Amino acid sequence: MSRTPPTQQFDVVVIGSGAAGLTAALNLADRFKVAVLAKGEITAGSTAWAQGGIAAVLEPGDTYESHIEDTMIAGGGLNDRAAVEYVVEHAAAAIDRLADLGVPFNVGDTDSHDRFHLTREGGHSHRRIVHVDDATGWAVQEALTAAATANPNITLLSGLVALDLITERHVEGQRFATRGCHGVYAFDVAAKKVRRFVARAVVLATGGASRVYQYSTNPDGSTGDGIAMAWRAGCRVSNMEFNQFHPTCLYHPTVKNFLITEAMRGEGGQLKLPTGERFMADYDERLELAPRDVVARAIDAEMKRLGLDHVLLDMTHHPAEFILHHFPMIHARLLALGIDCTIEPIPVVPAAHYTCGGVMVDLAGRTDLHGLYAVGEVSQSGLHGANRLASNSILECLVFGRAVADDIAKVWETLSPPPEIRAWDESRVTDSDEEIVVAHNWAELRRFMWDYVGIVRTDKRLERAHHRVKLLRKEIAEYYGNFRVSPDLIELRNLVQVGELIVRSALARKESRGLHFTPDYPHTLADPRDTVLDPVSAR
Ligand code: FAD
Ligand code: SIN
Repeated sequence: MSRTPPTQQFDVVVIGSGAAGLTAALNLADRFKVAVLAKGEITAGSTAWAQGGIAAVLEPGDTYESHIEDTMIAGGGLNDRAAVEYVVEHAAAAIDRLADLGVPFNVGDTDSHDRFHLTREGGHSHRRIVHVDDATGWAVQEALTAAATANPNITLLSGLVALDLITERHVEGQRFATRGCHGVYAFDVAAKKVRRFVARAVVLATGGASRVYQYSTNPDGSTGDGIAMAWRAGCRVSNMEFNQFHPTCLYHPTVKNFLITEAMRGEGGQLKLPTGERFMADYDERLELAPRDVVARAIDAEMKRLGLDHVLLDMTHHPAEFILHHFPMIHARLLALGIDCTIEPIPVVPAAHYTCGGVMVDLAGRTDLHGLYAVGEVSQSGLHGANRLASNSILECLVFGRAVADDIAKVWETLSPPPEIRAWDESRVTDSDEEIVVAHNWAELRRFMWDYVGIVRTDKRLERAHHRVKLLRKEIAEYYGNFRVSPDLIELRNLVQVGELIVRSALARKESRGLHFTPDYPHTLADPRDTVLDPVSAR
């Protein structure tokens, strides 16, 4: 009988198997032995759920400058221009690599012989989104997973929930010149045991934290694990108040997290009240194609003004063939729920979609710990500023995934070989007999984050949320200290930590900018500044 050893060693451990993690792994695998850990199935992250596509400057009429400007305008001027330029200028090469891996991007119309069909989304002043129908993410995830599976230098390990990064405090009797990361403890779901993965470099690619809200477009696993782990290990996080609410999530009694892609508005979809009246003209001259923060706030305002539980997205002015051709997956899914979007409008509401803040990184994806990198939605690279532009996220995963791999190769000799790591101590814990506590706390957190830290915030509501989140964090810390870990408990502990970081960041911002809107401070300050939280100075 084969027994998995409690400690496994690789050159690099990548935590997360979405677009960010697999891109980093594939670029590392030329030189290194890489393990990729995923807490559920390899394809279970947000990447596989992406619909609209990936933004890149690909046609002669478009320019880098235009994509950069659109990104900065959507981002409320808080973006780091160097990061924006870096990503925009590397976008076309990243798309080429995906096409080489076999991603079947839609091609342009035969008259113009375009290589790709380019669609449009809010905030973009050009058609620049490559896509695979309305299910781009699945095609990207499938191609990356197939390439990683076939690569002999990559070991894909599912069912392993990373729970804490290994730093100096887990190392027996050795001193280090710099603060570093040497691996990760991970809970093996099948064996119900904590295992150690040690490496010279660790890449966090754990995705976002939108499941901290009651209504979200994200899969269950978006619980901010990487942000919370990095924070506990001593890394700064920034801009956590910028939580993107996608304007159009399906409103349905049983299906709560089905996105209706922005590309529908890009292709002429109209937002309407139940009376059939359009309303975006009252809010922004760009109408349905204004950036997401503007559209989500407009819908929220109309719903509050009229006491509605949803608005409508109407595509029925298009011929049925057009809808079937461009949006086959959404059409089929809605039809199965009894909604035929070729003849009736789709009921929609805003829902939490994307975490713009995260672990602070530089242009090489480096965090505050030597040997620890962060890439994709878990990171705050400066690309998105106060509001992410549509279809810039997978792009960030692809471009930074490669940058991280290049940097690890560059600094390899400076990274310390894995030291002796302490075993996970379970001597003082017992099995929980009160799982209901976890379920209850989970529901409470999501509810008050939705009610008090949502699309529109006030100091009073934020203070209320702050009070509750601190109490919850204390209660969960006690529970965590006394009982054996489980995937639910690990996620809840992370989610409540991230909730607190969001509330603290929101309280610190005394202005309205991008996704952070508060009537207490309705103006935008002249000097855009990141909100940086530092766990070291907080101790
Ligand atoms: P993910 O793809 O979320 O992957 C995270 C990985 O980390 C998963 O493998 C997960 O199992 C693993 N993980 C997490 N925690 C742990 C842990 N503790 N231990 C081990 N493993 C862990 N963006 C676009 O650019 N274009 C789009 O069209 C688009 N459409 C979207 C539609 C939907 C419905 C959603 C939800 C998002 C969409 N986005 C889109 C956003 C985009 O999909 C994500 O931001 C991006 O895919 C994130 O990739 P990632 O690799 O950082 O994280
Ligand atoms: C969508 O298809 O509307 C999502 C695009 C994105 O999140 O960038």
